[in-house]
Amino acid sequence: MKGIILEKPGGEYLLSDSVAKPTPGKNQILVKSLVTGLNPVEGIQQQGMLVTAWPIVLGCDASGIVVAVGEDVKKFKQGDGVFGCTRLGEPGYGTFQEYFLMDEHITFKTPANITSVQAATIGVGLLTASMGLVSGTKMPLEAQPQKSAEDSEWVVIFGAAGSVGQYGVQLVEGLGADATLSHRIPVAEQLQGIATITGGKFSRVFDASAMAGDTGMQALADQSSISDSAKYFTTTNDWAPVEPRKGVEIHLITLGLIGKSGGVSEETVNKDIETYIPKLEQFLESGVVKPNEYEQVGDIGVEEVLKGLGAFKTRKNDGKKLVVRVSAD
Ligand SMILES: NC(=O)c1ccc[n+]([C@@H]2O[C@H](COP(=O)([O-])OP(=O)(O)OC[C@H]3O[C@@H](n4cnc5c(N)ncnc54)[C@H](OP(=O)(O)O)[C@@H]3O)[C@@H](O)[C@H]2O)c1
Repeated sequence: MKGIILEKPGGEYLLSDSVAKPTPGKNQILVKSLVTGLNPVEGIQQQGMLVTAWPIVLGCDASGIVVAVGEDVKKFKQGDGVFGCTRLGEPGYGTFQEYFLMDEHITFKTPANITSVQAATIGVGLLTASMGLVSGTKMPLEAQPQKSAEDSEWVVIFGAAGSVGQYGVQLVEGLGADATLSHRIPVAEQLQGIATITGGKFSRVFDASAMAGDTGMQALADQSSISDSAKYFTTTNDWAPVEPRKGVEIHLITLGLIGKSGGVSEETVNKDIETYIPKLEQFLESGVVKPNEYEQVGDIGVEEVLKGLGAFKTRKNDGKKLVVRVSAD
């Protein structure tokens, strides 16, 4: 089958028509790739990180249709629309190819109100935001928790205009995430702005950008006036150390462990994701959470992924997710 392969770390993306079509194992499904979302992680993987074997086909923001089910699969049948985040950097799981594998328990069923293109904007972003807010800042996963009492708290999200951040905002919307600041102003002004907007009433900071670790930790340590409860900092940056601050619990998001096994962290992450998915499916079906806006690059076909990857490098980042249609619905 066709796929976009990378032969070695730092290599060029190449169109191949001889990629092996995988076979679904126990609790796995074989998915026909309809649309793939593009993510910053592919740039990191191209350089050699988060890849288990070479050559590799990348792509993890999946949207497709089930064409075969493995042993013991109960949630899905042939013809079902599915989406989510596939195992990163493992042969057989990349979305930049005609067919790929997904694991039953950590895969979403596409609701009728979500198109296959919209679905490709959700998996990585919504799961990462949930991991940050729920596993990281101990926020309950509720349908837009209401800003009820006077003493309700703010949640501070850095990178709120990005793919992950926009889903983060939707998950906390009812709590009052309704003021914004630009990260292009000096850090001192950002911190002052956070203090003015929140009045210090926050104990949760989510750095969805992976770039605001120092500012986020400083905000929690210096601006948060909540003294009687724990303070939580969570970040999508799981590759750089965060300097600890007294009273702040730090959590690094590791979506890269999705579908992996063999350690406590892998088990925890996958259990968490398995718990979130049924609730997130409800939020999407009821419209409480809406897919991010998108821009489709190229026409239809596996080879169009090459155009998408090129466009991703030079994107202006207007909040729209870049997606590529791999095959027709
Ligand atoms: N650890 C994990 O498991 C995991 C999972 C998913 C994503 N990630 C990482 O998380 C990051 C965000 O992913 P994404 O898909 O949401 O990317 P994205 O769509 O490019 O969004 C990033 C956002 O962060 C903003 N930003 C950049 N520098 C900032 C700063 N210093 N302070 C505050 N905001 C800043 C950007 O604004 P401008 O465009 O204006 O610069 C943009 O709105 C990426 O680095 C990605 O690799 C990690």
